[in-house]
Amino acid sequence: MDKIRVTGGNQLEGAITISGAKNAALPLMIASLLTEETLTLENVPHLADVESLIRILTNHGVDYRVEGKRKGQDSRQGRTIEFTAGAIVDTTAPYELVSRMRASFWVIGPLLARMGEARVSLPGGCAIGTRPVDLFIDVLARLGADIKIENGYAVATTADGLVGAHYEFPKVSVGATHVALMAATLAKGRTVLSNAAREPEVADLARCLKAMGARIEGEGSSTITIDGVERLGGARHRVLPDRIETGTYAIAVAMTGGNVLLEGARPELLESALEALRSAGVGVERENGGIRVTRGNEPIRAVDITTQPFPGFPTDLQAQFMALMTRADGTAEITETIFENRFMHVQELARLGAHINLDGQTAVVEGVDELHGAQVMATDLRASVSLVIAGLAARGTTTVNRVYHLDRGFERLEDKLSRCGAVIERVSE
Ligand code: UD1
Repeated sequence: MDKIRVTGGNQLEGAITISGAKNAALPLMIASLLTEETLTLENVPHLADVESLIRILTNHGVDYRVEGKRKGQDSRQGRTIEFTAGAIVDTTAPYELVSRMRASFWVIGPLLARMGEARVSLPGGCAIGTRPVDLFIDVLARLGADIKIENGYAVATTADGLVGAHYEFPKVSVGATHVALMAATLAKGRTVLSNAAREPEVADLARCLKAMGARIEGEGSSTITIDGVERLGGARHRVLPDRIETGTYAIAVAMTGGNVLLEGARPELLESALEALRSAGVGVERENGGIRVTRGNEPIRAVDITTQPFPGFPTDLQAQFMALMTRADGTAEITETIFENRFMHVQELARLGAHINLDGQTAVVEGVDELHGAQVMATDLRASVSLVIAGLAARGTTTVNRVYHLDRGFERLEDKLSRCGAVIERVSE
């Protein structure tokens, strides 16, 4: 199994190109199930999760074709992939495929909307809490589906197709909003989703669905209105830049000090995280189609954060921000409100010398003068990158084991960091 070995101490200097967002690419790919025409997605990142989803989609009968490179494009840009679900040959998403990644459960929405049936294994993914599927079942039932849980599968059917309805989510869920949005595009009549997720990836999916012929209003706000149409067609859509990757590299620069341009990053996608960095004393400026992040020798100030649905501080940057706070001048409180078990990086950061006490859903991080390298274990996708970031600023060498988590969500991480002067390598065993 691969490991990442980081030797800390170098400042980061240079430029990093931000990839297409994993969390947008996955639902967009799934949306291809809604039409027999071709959906072409540009800027699709090279990630293990994208490959897993391709396997799932091909099992349902989707053909895909990776477009060749165009003039002026280099290998650091995302791929353009055409997805064509000419005929859905199988409405079952089996355990072997779905258990690797939670988002694959989301195929339930389009399969049900287009075929009137879906049998989808209950999901796996990062071990960051129980992550149930009650909201998916509830909203699809409200749209007229009959859903049972049988032998670890959600089995959904509709007698006469889905029918639009009003549904208020009792809790904000990104995935359940994606699924409801996709399902409602082909339902009869109007659907109104209240307390919907406002994440930029939801709005990106809605924009793509509109290009496919869907009638949607209010995406990006907490009330989304969808008027069902008979059928959707093909479209071409560019995946928006990854705000979590952007925030991760911004935090890495804050941690090591230095000066890096995050190319293609869009500040409006992560204002709350950028604001937290500014409060910590980090320079963050919009520049030339990107964001420039700088920190000199000034100390990192302690900043309290609480994770919230968008536009609040993203849970997917909590671990990375905690890594930064381990070196702060003072004590920071980091409160996690989205997932109940998302502090597994705490004990690994402690191995590097961090002082962190857990008090329920709050981690109290007392900054230390120095971290020191150690062997650590990646436990989930975002936690593992927090260990890499901490390693970049630690004295000596840090080895992050089980990096397959990283490959699920970060494209060419070691390449992007080493181009900016980090001493980082992948070690295969
Ligand atoms: C998505 C993101 C993930 C991010 C999360 C929160 C993707 C591929 N993944 O995950 O990176 O951390 O949003 O921003 O986009 N919940 C229920 N019942 C349900 C569904 C969810 O109780 O049926 C709970 C979850 O356990 C969690 C909360 O709702 O506590 C939010 O989860 P949700 O927004 O659904 O996260 P995901 O869509 O899985």
